[in-house]
Amino acid sequence: MSRIYSSAKEIDFKISDLPNMPVPTEVLMVKPTYFDVEYVINPHMQGQIGKVDTLQAVNEWEHLLGGFKELGIHTHVLNGVKGLPDMVFCANQSLPFIDEEENRKVVMSIMHTQQRKGEVEIIEEWFHKNGYEILHLDPAVTEKFEGMGDALWHFKRKLLWGAYGFRTNPVAFQQISELFDTPVVILELVDEVFYHLDTCMCMLNEKSVLIYPDAFTETGLEMIHMLFENVIISSKYEAQKLFAVNASCPDGKNVMIQQGSTDVNKKLRDAGFKVHEYSTYEFIKSGGSVFCMKQLLW
Ligand code: ARG
Repeated sequence: MSRIYSSAKEIDFKISDLPNMPVPTEVLMVKPTYFDVEYVINPHMQGQIGKVDTLQAVNEWEHLLGGFKELGIHTHVLNGVKGLPDMVFCANQSLPFIDEEENRKVVMSIMHTQQRKGEVEIIEEWFHKNGYEILHLDPAVTEKFEGMGDALWHFKRKLLWGAYGFRTNPVAFQQISELFDTPVVILELVDEVFYHLDTCMCMLNEKSVLIYPDAFTETGLEMIHMLFENVIISSKYEAQKLFAVNASCPDGKNVMIQQGSTDVNKKLRDAGFKVHEYSTYEFIKSGGSVFCMKQLLW
């Protein structure tokens, strides 16, 4: 039976009632050798075709990889593939999971756009080789689902936050809820600039989240405020131009974020987080930053 929550009045649990889930300790990153903006599938890519400085992109990517290593996170690196310029955003092709018996599983995505569909089988092969049980959504039911672009695990708890509207159908979360036997809180996204959940919501720790509120409906915001004690708000400028909310807080303490997000960074520091700034300007041209440039793993 699926357990889907789509409004605050349906929420019949407290975060502290939910089973624990281990914090991911590894990441996968895909080399940006073939990264570029070759087509336009989100508003950020508009006017950016051919504008990526490839050398700079490689530098930025290497720094970010080094940053994960510095935090003690084990890193895996997969080669990029010619003709798949967006594969570098490897949060999108899958949703990994670890169950109570520590079995590692992964649901593969069904990409919304034709240009990105070929990425999924390559990432799937990587998961297969690395011992994950591979699960697929029923394509007759779910037309599109873009992995951790639109699905975020609550920090340390077995609760999934799922979003729909642009790249994912809500029905995907019914299937995922059953496959992983997990509750899912679903949120509608309403602004195409914030086309993935990871552009407007960043899990920080069990009690804290960073969001860009105008990307959500009132109903969604009510659920977010109900389940998090500390809701840190990003300005439109930092969320849209600097991808401040597409940050990553792998351990509940250290936040890796695009450089220059001054206001968000102050709020994060005031809330006790340690902020590490990275330049991801080349990737922002394609509509992604720190969070979607890696996949979290166990
Ligand atoms: N160009 C990519 C796309 O539009 C960027 C994906 C970035 N990923 C993310 N989760 N925000 O699909």
